[in-house]
Amino acid sequence: MGFKNQTVLITGGAQGIGFSLSKKFSRMGANVVIADNNKDTPKIAKNFDGLGYVCDVTQEKELNNFITFAEEKLGSVHCFISNAGTIFVDPDHVASAPNKTWDLSWKLHLMPHVYAARRLLPGMLDRKYGYLVNTASAAGLLYQIGDAPYSASKAAAISFSEGIAISHGDEGIRSSVICPQYVASNLLGFSDPADAKSIEGLLSPEVVADKVYEAMCRGEFLILPHPEVQKYLTNKVSDYDRWIEGMRKLKKKSIAKRGSAKPLDIIHLV
Ligand SMILES: NC(=O)c1ccc[n+]([C@@H]2O[C@H](COP(=O)([O-])OP(=O)(O)OC[C@H]3O[C@@H](n4cnc5c(N)ncnc54)[C@H](O)[C@@H]3O)[C@@H](O)[C@H]2O)c1
Repeated sequence: MGFKNQTVLITGGAQGIGFSLSKKFSRMGANVVIADNNKDTPKIAKNFDGLGYVCDVTQEKELNNFITFAEEKLGSVHCFISNAGTIFVDPDHVASAPNKTWDLSWKLHLMPHVYAARRLLPGMLDRKYGYLVNTASAAGLLYQIGDAPYSASKAAAISFSEGIAISHGDEGIRSSVICPQYVASNLLGFSDPADAKSIEGLLSPEVVADKVYEAMCRGEFLILPHPEVQKYLTNKVSDYDRWIEGMRKLKKKSIAKRGSAKPLDIIHLV
């Protein structure tokens, strides 16, 4: 299936993966509306002839207002890609991030997916048509060493996405969860997509957007832009203890080679 003439809403669309997805869907004929807390979002959306709405997706009312804005302009929403996110990084041990950070991790990486589904599902179920997509992360499947709030909240996002697929897949609702590994976006401190060439395994947001688009056209639930993540996941579920041991080894290697095991060190070693 394609997305020609469909209304596609994308959060976190002002830059990075969300911006590349917006350009891709627009090029493929979709009517794209983005939301972002970047105040230039309406101007940014003009890059792909779309519409932009400034809001904080952690606030249910603001997210609902974004959807209402899109519906008033374009009618029913066919597809919602809940993509906004950020990284945190543990200041010290695994529980050292303050509660403020943990709160934000749920509010940004889980609750917007719930709010969007809560707002859109009644109409989609009536129409027996709709596609809900959440950007989680390979960190939710595998754990990001050095960022416990990120990993835990992304795991929760994957679980909620599974819930959508299991509960409503037979009622005309499609769903996917996007689980990239490392992508050369501002989130990881990369300002130029060409930086993707600087580290093995790092993908540009454009490449991720192409792969996500193709996987969504095929209707895949688990979207893995980095195919190696499937191998890591298979290893994890086939021998959990061995996988934990391997992750400990990776942490030790990072400390030995780079002096620390923060996410931006690990990225050089996977
Ligand atoms: N970059 C990676 O390596 C990577 C890997 C796996 C998953 N992801 C996930 O992909 C998604 C997109 O990340 P990215 O790499 O494009 O990052 P990015 O920082 O380039 O883009 C994130 C966008 O989300 C917006 N945003 C953040 N908080 C918001 C809020 N409260 N309300 C509205 N907008 C908000 C930002 O303004 C920004 O435009 C995130 O969910 C991220 O966790 C990224």
